[in-house]
Amino acid sequence: MVITFMENFKLIKLLGEGGFGKTFLARVLDDRLKSETGEFIALKIPLNKEREESLIKELVTNALFNLKLQGVKHPNVVSYLGFSKYKEHYGMMMEYVEGKSLRQELSEKKMLSVDSALAIAEGILSGLAYAHKAGLIHRDINPSNILIRSDGVAKLTDFGISNILGDTGSRYGRMGTGTFAYMPKECVKKGYKEGFYSDTYSFGATLYEMVTGKLPFVGMSGIEIKKMILDQQPAPPIFLNPKVGETLSAIILTSLRKEPMERFQRAEEFLEAIKEYREKGQKQDRYINRMEEKKEPPKKKMFVPTGGWGEE
Ligand SMILES: Nc1ncnc2c1ncn2[C@@H]1O[C@H](COP(=O)(O)OP(=O)(O)OP(=O)(O)O)[C@@H](O)[C@H]1O
Ligand SMILES: [Mg+2]
Repeated sequence: MVITFMENFKLIKLLGEGGFGKTFLARVLDDRLKSETGEFIALKIPLNKEREESLIKELVTNALFNLKLQGVKHPNVVSYLGFSKYKEHYGMMMEYVEGKSLRQELSEKKMLSVDSALAIAEGILSGLAYAHKAGLIHRDINPSNILIRSDGVAKLTDFGISNILGDTGSRYGRMGTGTFAYMPKECVKKGYKEGFYSDTYSFGATLYEMVTGKLPFVGMSGIEIKKMILDQQPAPPIFLNPKVGETLSAIILTSLRKEPMERFQRAEEFLEAIKEYREKGQKQDRYINRMEEKKEPPKKKMFVPTGGWGEE
């Protein structure tokens, strides 16, 4: 098992803080480690003892999981470099990505051009497809876990964090209203099982935000958003931005279907749709047809004033 216990880091600056802990830019001082990791790394240190214990439990006692994480090497996934100790703290070493998060990018620009969004989508879905093949579900895809390197390459980060936090079930359950918006139905409602299709939903919500500047569901509280996730349909992206086009709008809505089985089952399937769209554009209408085929029957009794038929 490759776990590095050492104190040979110099913290340079705080990169950001999230639900799990603080992420620092650190310089690696040890020459042997430097030859493996490079001079600069991102060091993620848990917020408190409870988080730290979960991290140790998962990464030290679950060697297979640790190896699995280290085995995910893909240009669109931030590399996990191992487990480390800095002074009294334990942390995760990760590849440092010089650039900004998609969250920062969206806060500045509100939305992206369709071309830029699709380039990011192709990159992230390639990385996600690779991880899905290795059997890993991300469980927390949202714009703050997508980093855009200065040269434009998009990278998905924080694989495995959700597993570390997963001691009481789904990571999704812990999210505040900020990331609620990327949660699929199965993570809100009991009795459904999370799967690769939960990741494709969360990326679908991220893509929706990239091209429309809005989240699929916006509510005043977490409870309100949860309710919308369960029984409301998001506005088609084309209604919010005509530049999205009918086919792409239908692809995004497919990724956001309520029923897991109606979505892209794995990132690879979503990736194929995006690639095909980038190559052929609006000429492909099978997603539009697919939406028609899978239209759900209305759940509530419909009021038809002319004496016509309702659902019953
Ligand atoms: N490997 C990295 N390289 C460069 N910057 C990073 C790296 N990882 C994280 N960051 C920066 O630090 C910020 C905080 O990341 P962090 O993962 O700690 O929190 P978060 O993504 O906002 O929330 P969450 O706890 O849900 O992951 C990110 O938004 C990003 O700007
Ligand atoms: Mg993160």
